[in-house]
Formats: sequence, structure tokens, C-alpha cells
Amino acid sequence: MTTIAIPSGMPQYDDVPRYDVAAVRADFPILDREINGHPLVYLDSANTSHKPRQVLDVLREHYERHNANVSRSVHTLGTEATEAYEGARAKIATFVNAPSVDEVVFTKNSTEAINLVAYAFANASLRFDAARSASSGGTDDRFRLGPGDEIVISEMEHHSNIVPWQLLAERTGATLRWFPVTDAGRLDESGLTDLVNERTKIVSLVHMSNILGTVNATSRITARVREVGALLLLDCSQSVPHMPIDVVDLDADFIVFTGHKMCGPTGIGVLWGRAELLAAMPPVLGGGSMIETVTMGGSTFAAPPARFEAGTPPIAEAVALGAAVDYLSGLGMRAVQWHEKQLTAYALDALGTVPGLRIFGPEVPVGRGGTISFALGDVHPHDVGQVLDSLGVQVRVGHHCARPVCTRFGVPATTRASFYLYTTTEEIDALVAGLEQVRKVFG
Ligand code: ALA
Repeated sequence: MTTIAIPSGMPQYDDVPRYDVAAVRADFPILDREINGHPLVYLDSANTSHKPRQVLDVLREHYERHNANVSRSVHTLGTEATEAYEGARAKIATFVNAPSVDEVVFTKNSTEAINLVAYAFANASLRFDAARSASSGGTDDRFRLGPGDEIVISEMEHHSNIVPWQLLAERTGATLRWFPVTDAGRLDESGLTDLVNERTKIVSLVHMSNILGTVNATSRITARVREVGALLLLDCSQSVPHMPIDVVDLDADFIVFTGHKMCGPTGIGVLWGRAELLAAMPPVLGGGSMIETVTMGGSTFAAPPARFEAGTPPIAEAVALGAAVDYLSGLGMRAVQWHEKQLTAYALDALGTVPGLRIFGPEVPVGRGGTISFALGDVHPHDVGQVLDSLGVQVRVGHHCARPVCTRFGVPATTRASFYLYTTTEEIDALVAGLEQVRKVFG
């Protein structure tokens, strides 16, 4: 069994679940690739993860054996497809410990899931016929925003958790406010009581930062949100793939995540919302499958989750995401988290040996995940990325769709290495060796 030697400073736990990394890597066909004559070293899993054979097989088998539209056909294939689609919903509900399977809404990705909530607020705030929407939200004051109301985000958000709220604020006259970020790359909660107050309608925060790697401890914020009667959305795009997530324990009102970062396909994401809230939310997209009745005079709407899944959904993608959840559950999310915790400690140690390297975000493997952004002297990240690519090492360079974080740290861009359940310490060694090469090339 290939496991990681525990890096210095990491506690030794006997009861930590482990898996065989070499066996796991054998499940991912792409990891056999060579890039520019070198073995692939894939350190861009925060961008998108690779897919194991077990997921690819389910995707293919769905189209080859069970393809039909869902929720509208009485024939056998239609029934099989519907059962597979709803079965995937049930797997995902179990994976995040959702109290009800109906709390899982399929979307295209996290971005769409956040926009869905923001547009539901917009619909509730504009005009919605009270009588018609009594059974489907739209009149609930918790979703109504106007001048004087406030939306709270943070400076460490991905653009997908900034722009929808800016648009909502513009549309409704509400004010957008945000938590700053400390020099250490942590959320600055010192102004919590002022920031989250009786005017706050929703707080929407990233759970784990895609650029800094910071994992936000949300309990103080949640307590304050409850105190003032606001709602809490957590963007879990970077946490659900990497650690056990329990929506009951998190005590959020909504969480969002995306399939392609957790061994699933692109084109499928999830909005989880508390049942009572989803039931009170007005629809966003209108069309087939989301209605109760339709006349030429107007429509009434289905209960969630169907209310929020207009049109033919990403069926095969949802089924394959169910397979991805099976795969992750088979390894065990505690084991995945522990594997990445060790990698992070190892990488922070190893990167610390590179002269001139500056890490953005927490420099200790506590309260952070395996996503590390850095600068190498004044070499432009695009140059760093190009030299690394020539050696087969794939990292992401740029602002990582989190431009305010770059502005906060006074840089136009960073180089980012991100790990996953199949990453090895040898790959981190290859990154460090590649950075030495960058130093040679750029003096
Ligand atoms: N949000 C993804 C990333 O951080 C796309 O790379």
C-alpha cells in the first residue's frame, strides 16, 4: 500500500483512515498521460478534478443502456432514467447529510446555484402575484430586498459569489457589504456585529477559498446570522470534494457545490436548501417540469426541487455525479481529508525551501485545504506556469476568478497548486524542482 510519510510537525494518529494512493491513481486513466515528454503532474484540481473509470463507465452506460427523458415518460427506459436520476439525488442528499432528498436541486454548476438563489430574491423583491404564488413563495419577506437592506459577502469570494449579489443589489437598491481578509489570509471577523445586523437579509460566504485555501470556521457568523434573522449561504465548491460536509452540522440555509471538482462530470451542480426555505422561494426559470398547472391566464408551480429544475435536466451528468459520490464514499471523506492534510503540510514545508517564494494564505496546515497560491520573486505567474508546463507540471496561473483577493495582496495574479485524493508527494517534489528551474531561467 502506497501512503504518504507523515511530514514533520504533523500529529501521528493510529486511527486515521487511509487508502492506497497507487491503487486510487490506477482508477484515473488520464494520470497515465505524458505532457511535453514528462509524466503528467496534475496540480490543478481546484480548477477541475479528474474522473475515475467508475464514473466514466456509468456515464457511458447511461447513454448506451438507459437513455430517455426523465419525469415525463411512462415507458421502461423513461422509468429507468428517472430512477437513476432520482437515485443520484438520494445519494447526494446522503453524502451531505441532507434531512430530505427534496432539498437537493440539480443545477449546471455552483455559479448557477448561487444565481438561482439571487434571482429568487430578485423575483420576490420585484412584483409577484401574491395570490398565485401563495403555494410557491414570492411573498415571503425573508426574500424581499429593497433600499436599506444589506447583503454581506467577503473579500475572498470567487467572482461567482460576488457578481450575482452585485447584480441583485443594483436591481433592488440593497447595499452590498463584505468581510475583509487579514494579512494571514483569514476572514477578518472583527467587525462581525456591525457587518451582520438587523438590516442584513443574506450572508453568502465561501467555505474554502479557491485561491487562498483558507477554510472558514463559520460558527460565530452562523450564530450572528441567526440572531439578526438573516439567511446564510455557503459556497462549498472547494470543500464538498475534499472533506466530510454535513449540512445539519454546518447549520447553513443554503449550500452550493459543483460536480466536476469532485470526480464527476462538468455541467452538473447542486443547490442544497432547507426544505422550508425552498418551499417559500419563487421560481426562477420557467418551463416544463416546474409547473403544477398551466392555463393561458397563468401558472402555478410544482413543489421543490422540481420548481427549480425547468426543462430537461442534465440527466446523465447527475447519474454520473451519483457514481462520483459512490466513489468518494468508498474511499471515505475522512480519508480523503487526511490524505490532503498531509500533502498540504508536506507542500508548505517543501515550498518554504524555495528562495524568494511568498505564499498567499495561511502558511500552516491548520484551517486550510490543499490549494496553495504563491509568487516566485517577481517572475510573472504566466512565465512560472509556462516553464512548469514544459516539465509536465500543470498549475493554474492568473487571478483565479477571485480578483479582489489579488488586489488585497497587491499582485495582479498568482501561481496556484491544488491537490486532490490522487496527488502524491512525488508530484509536489516535481513542482519544487520545476520552481528551481524557473529560478534558473529567470535569474
Ligand atoms: N473556480 C475554479 C478555480 O478556482 C474554476 O480554478
